[in-house]
Amino acid sequence: MTNHRIALIPGDGIGTEVLPPAQRVLDTVGRRHGFTFSYTSFDDWSCERYLREGAMMPPDGLDRLRDKDAILLGAVGRPDVPDHVSLWGLLIPIRRGFRQYVNLRPVRVFEGIDSPVRGAVAGKVDLVVVRENVEGEYSEIGGRLHRGFPEEAAVQESVFTRAGVTRVLDHAFALAAGRRGRLTSATKSNGIVHTLPFWDELVAECGAAHPEVAWDQEHIDALAAKFVLDPARFDVVVASNLFGDILSDLAAAVAGSIGIAPAANLNPEREFPSMFEPVHGSAPDIAGRGIANPLGAIWSAALMLDHLGHPEAAADVTDAIAAVLAKTDVRTPDLGGTAATAEFTDRLLELL
Ligand code: NAI
Ligand code: MG
Repeated sequence: MTNHRIALIPGDGIGTEVLPPAQRVLDTVGRRHGFTFSYTSFDDWSCERYLREGAMMPPDGLDRLRDKDAILLGAVGRPDVPDHVSLWGLLIPIRRGFRQYVNLRPVRVFEGIDSPVRGAVAGKVDLVVVRENVEGEYSEIGGRLHRGFPEEAAVQESVFTRAGVTRVLDHAFALAAGRRGRLTSATKSNGIVHTLPFWDELVAECGAAHPEVAWDQEHIDALAAKFVLDPARFDVVVASNLFGDILSDLAAAVAGSIGIAPAANLNPEREFPSMFEPVHGSAPDIAGRGIANPLGAIWSAALMLDHLGHPEAAADVTDAIAAVLAKTDVRTPDLGGTAATAEFTDRLLELL
């Protein structure tokens, strides 16, 4: 029987509350489809560890993850630790060190969820944001000078490389070809006159290599408006690191709750483990109360199943998510219900 070695990094806050439900779901579908998981939990890779030892993870952290088949992460972040510390101390080193250059964020409006957007009709909105995940605007290049003086300044450079942009575009075009065959590129080449015209040229090159995909491009400001006004028109949306980050949170909100949205950080070449995590953060405002919505983590586990070569098992999980929302009124408070995380998970497992 196939066994998959999974690293669990619960992290902080509700990160620790949403991973156990995801694990229960994985074990259940594994039994049905004939595979197993062995988990190694890195419980103390967190802000608590940072406050105690000055680092989010041990210096050989990546080496401890290297032999795993995949990583499932909850969320990191605590109000008394600066967010750039928790992000750059754990998430970003893993994404970059393991060349997880594709960040995949599917968005669907499920039946039984009230979208805050009138036009976001269940069954109609089904899109994937493909975000470039290791370069672009989130670069370490830059600095601060004249600290504390009136002329104090900060500079941060965006870095777009032909290799880095092309590989994520290729992934996005291939994904679109296997879906509804439509791709939209997020740009802003009217205002950002070096990096984004370069991005646009590479999109056109990739587009020519994928004649089966109908593609267009939109400036990020207009695109944000269209995400709200007409989200159903989109299939695959490809974007740079910053634009993709913003668009995917916007799309998650359009879909009804950030608590449902999943993400995959993929190393498509499989030289390194890929990492799966809900889009949401550690939610300190509700942490410790057992009311976090587990669907984002559970859907992320489904993306992991897909990556591990079990598309039928992944579909079972997304079907169970759709079913628990459409057929029951059990919901966590973020979706307008009163259920606890565990109760919501129980109901989903019954439907699974
Ligand atoms: P957040 O996603 O943690 O919370 C935003 C709002 O959504 C809060 O009101 C929260 O209660 C609610 N929410 C989020 N997930 C939920 C869920 N599963 N169920 C029910 N309600 C949910 O974002 P915020 O507040 O901006 O950040 C909090 C901390 O999380 C910060 O330290 C931030 O840096 C960190 N963060 C970490 C991420 C990660 O580990 N990938 C991603 C985003 C934020
Ligand atoms: Mg974000």
